[in-house]
Amino acid sequence: MIYSRIIGTGSYLPVKTVTNHDLEKIVDTSHDWIVSRSGISERHFAADDEKTSDLAMHASRRAIEAAGISADEIDLIIVATTSPDQLFPSTACILQDKLGIRSGGPAFDMQAVCGGFVFALNTADMYIRGGQAKTVLVVGAEVLSRMLDWNDRTTCVLFGDGAGAVVLRASEQPGIISAKLHSDGRHREMLKADPKISMDGQSVFKFAVKVLSDVVDEVLKDNGLQGSDINWLVPHQANIRIIEATAKKLGLGMANVVVTVGQHGNTSAASIPLALDTAVRDGRIQTGQNIMIEAVGGGFTWGAALIRW
Ligand code: UT7
Repeated sequence: MIYSRIIGTGSYLPVKTVTNHDLEKIVDTSHDWIVSRSGISERHFAADDEKTSDLAMHASRRAIEAAGISADEIDLIIVATTSPDQLFPSTACILQDKLGIRSGGPAFDMQAVCGGFVFALNTADMYIRGGQAKTVLVVGAEVLSRMLDWNDRTTCVLFGDGAGAVVLRASEQPGIISAKLHSDGRHREMLKADPKISMDGQSVFKFAVKVLSDVVDEVLKDNGLQGSDINWLVPHQANIRIIEATAKKLGLGMANVVVTVGQHGNTSAASIPLALDTAVRDGRIQTGQNIMIEAVGGGFTWGAALIRW
C-alpha cells in the first residue's frame, strides 16, 4: 500500500505587521471589538511589489529545505489560492519557475477558497496513491489584502496575507490516512469576492460550526476513531470562536488545538499550512501523532483530513 507522508513544512509571512490599533486609524473599529469577536490582534500585509507567488516561493524553499530534498525531485506542484498573481498562467506555474524546477511535472492551482489547502492535499494524496507522482509540493498562499473593501468594516479587519507549504512523499508508512471533501454551491452568495470580499458573517459563522464538526466526525468514523484520539486539531484560522466551538463539539480541550489566528488573521488557503509549520517548528507536532485538519470556505467548500505525522 502506498501512502503519502509529509516530510517537510515551511511558511512565510510578509514583513509588514498591521495591528488592530493600526486599523483603528483608517476604519471605524476598535482593538477590543476585533479581539472579542474574532480573536485577531494583528495580521501581515504583503508589500506593494510582493505577489502571491513570492510568498509561496519563500514558504516552499523552507519546506524543501526541511524535507532535505532537491527542488528538482518535485514532480507535482499544487497551489491552493484564491488570490492568484494574475488570471493566468497559474500561480503554480509561476512558482515552478521561481523555484527553478525544470522536472516538467504538472503544476496547477486549486480554487476552493479557505477550503483550498484541504482540497489540494487530498488531490496530491490521490496522485501519490495512484502512482502518478512521488514527491509533491502543496502550497497555500494568499495576498488577500488587495481584495479588501475598506468601506466594509465587518470584513476588512479579518483577513491577512501569508503562505505555507508541505512536501509530500510516497511511503509505505501511513501518512495521510483519509480525507472528506464537500461543496454546496447554493450558499455561494454568503461569502464571495467580486472582486472585493463580502460576507454575511453571522450566517457563515453558524454554517461553519455545523459543517466543520460534521466533517471531522465523518473522518473519525471512517477510521473508527473518536475526538480523544486526535493529538492536534489544526483548524482553518478564521475566528477563535468558531475554532473553540468546533473543539468543544469534538470533546477536545484547547490545549490540543493549534491557534494562530491572533497573529495571522484569516489567511484563507494559507492558514492551515502556516499553523502546521508553526506547530512543527516549535516541537508540538511529533512523529506518530494524529493530526486533524479542517476548513470551510466560500463556495461553500469544506473538508477535513486525518494525518499520521
Ligand atoms: O474563512 C471563511 C469563513 N469566514 C468566517 O469564518 C467568518 C465568520 N463570521 C465571523 O467570524 C463573525 O460573524 C464576524 C467576526 C464577521 C462578526 O462577528 P459577529 O459577532 O457576528 O458580529 P455582528 O456581525 O453581529 O456585528 C455585531 C455589531 C454590529 O453592530 P450593531 O448592529 O449590533 O450595532 C456591527 O455593526 O458589531 C458591529 N461591527 C463592528 N464594530 C466594530 C461590525 N464590524 C465591526 C468592526 N468594528 N470591525
